[in-house]
Amino acid sequence: MNPLHRFPTERTAVVTGAGSARGIGRTVVRRLAQAGWHVAALDVDKVAVTAFATQANADAGTTVKGYGVDITSPDEVDGVFTRIEADLPPVVGLAHGAGVASPVPFFDVTLDEWNRVLDINSTGTFLVNQRAIRGMVDREVGRVVNLSSASAQMGGGTYSKVPYSASKASVIGFSRAVAREVGKFGVTVNVVSPGPIDTEIMGGRLTDERKTQMASGLLLDRIGTPTDIAATVEFLLSEDAGYITAAVVNVNGGLVVN
Ligand SMILES: NC(=O)c1ccc[n+]([C@@H]2O[C@H](COP(=O)([O-])OP(=O)(O)OC[C@H]3O[C@@H](n4cnc5c(N)ncnc54)[C@H](O)[C@@H]3O)[C@@H](O)[C@H]2O)c1
Repeated sequence: MNPLHRFPTERTAVVTGAGSARGIGRTVVRRLAQAGWHVAALDVDKVAVTAFATQANADAGTTVKGYGVDITSPDEVDGVFTRIEADLPPVVGLAHGAGVASPVPFFDVTLDEWNRVLDINSTGTFLVNQRAIRGMVDREVGRVVNLSSASAQMGGGTYSKVPYSASKASVIGFSRAVAREVGKFGVTVNVVSPGPIDTEIMGGRLTDERKTQMASGLLLDRIGTPTDIAATVEFLLSEDAGYITAAVVNVNGGLVVN
């Protein structure tokens, strides 16, 4: 029993989407390690994520370990969590950011493209959350953050279009519905919804011209950084954030105001 839903001293956060060199996931990994978490860094790009984790582990005072996994495969997701549970302290945190963009206009979207995006962004979210949260419920403590997008709230309007918006909107409904079922076990489930962030998910490295153009629709005069997102994720995964659940936290420079 963990009636107060307190964090164990030694605890692990699983971070998905930590393979890309300039992505949000790696900054989340480094921040969580600095905040005292052991971290399992996951990505479909096993070579990249394990090389990154080796470096992050050398810099951290905690253990950072990298694992390859395709989050659309139930067997791979189950297998990687089984390994994490054997390798590291109990999983208390999940920061789920693995995802893909889709800039295809509506009438050009094939069923294959629709299924690809929904498989990774929606089904992947389901598989990773269900596997992670089972253990959190058993231990009666957990924090989950799933990454959606301002594109879900606006219906595109940034870079990606219909399948991406639909999949990222599903992340919001999914997270809130799960939050209803697991709150009584001391598990919080929240969403961070970024606006334009300076990574390479929007078709490669952003030029200064493109950044200026993207920032022109914002209340703040710049696009966001992975640190803007990672700082929010770190807070929502902290023990102190235990009274926040089913929230959608906009980190978007004022792109969406509601
Ligand atoms: N960068 C932005 O402007 C922005 C804005 C809104 C939302 N987001 C969301 O934030 C998250 C992180 O975005 P990012 O900009 O760091 O993107 P990114 O492309 O840098 O990182 C995404 C990572 O997910 C991994 N991935 C893709 N498919 C996978 C699979 N099947 N299994 C496991 N891993 C897989 C990729 O290999 C990649 O490392 C995404 O969910 C994205 O939709 C980003």
